[in-house]
Amino acid sequence: MNTAARVALVTGAGQGIGRAIALRLAGDGFDLALADVKADKLDQVAGEVRALGRRSEVISCDVADREQVLAAVAQARKGLGALNVMVNNAGIAQVAPLLDARLDDVRRILGINLEGVLWGIQAAAEAFRAQGGGGKIINACSIAGHEGYPLLGVYCATKFAVRALTQAAAKELAHDGITVNSYCPGVVGTDMWVEIDRRMSEVTGAKLGESYDRFVGNIALGRAETPEDVAAFVSYLASADANYMTGQSVMIDGGLVYR
Ligand SMILES: NC(=O)c1ccc[n+]([C@@H]2O[C@H](COP(=O)([O-])OP(=O)(O)OC[C@H]3O[C@@H](n4cnc5c(N)ncnc54)[C@H](O)[C@@H]3O)[C@@H](O)[C@H]2O)c1
Repeated sequence: MNTAARVALVTGAGQGIGRAIALRLAGDGFDLALADVKADKLDQVAGEVRALGRRSEVISCDVADREQVLAAVAQARKGLGALNVMVNNAGIAQVAPLLDARLDDVRRILGINLEGVLWGIQAAAEAFRAQGGGGKIINACSIAGHEGYPLLGVYCATKFAVRALTQAAAKELAHDGITVNSYCPGVVGTDMWVEIDRRMSEVTGAKLGESYDRFVGNIALGRAETPEDVAAFVSYLASADANYMTGQSVMIDGGLVYR
């Protein structure tokens, strides 16, 4: 893959999709700033990045806190040099009927999934401008950013919001040479889906694994998605091959939601 850029920061890099993106970008030739609220998980990923011959910087960061996100970008630039790619990947899910949603839970998921992406866009754009322009911002959206699902209503609302931010940021930042796009995974076999499945069982009485299997059963390509499937698309979005693409939130879901 042809990548002109050299340094990427990935939030939520401690496990799952974020870890796979970090390793894929390291394989593409990027040095990696790895940020996560569970910083203890990052040392192992940093070791895997180094094993691929790239440098890494481990950053403890809660993306819901604007100051911490600004500091994370500053630490990445100090440790690794000019930032070229920002991947706002960190996110959480919540499973509950809409009528059970309460303020604390709604604020928590908005703080991470919506505000976290907004602070990431701001921090990256500020750095890109200070460096003279150019740069790519890549956000974690979802099929849930294109369709509302029962029991995932508030989560879906945060991902619809990511799609809106992606479009608006693309338009606001285009004149700085900055592109903004999102990846929209389907059903990826990470800890997030273990928890979604467990909570769906609690709420609906389904057996453990049944909700996951039902979602996977609707995928045209006939299997669950791997973090590496997502990372392969992010690799493209981070590359010079995607220079003419901005404002898009694209499904990478094995054929599940069609837009
Ligand atoms: N798993 C899926 O099927 C799926 C589908 C569509 C979209 N996504 C999105 O992809 C992204 C990654 O999902 P995943 O499946 O790898 O989840 P995961 O739960 O396996 O990993 C998420 C990572 O983000 C970190 N994190 C959580 N809150 C944070 C915070 N406040 N600040 C910094 N880091 C934080 C966690 O510590 C963890 O390392 C999320 O935004 C998710 O919404 C996942």
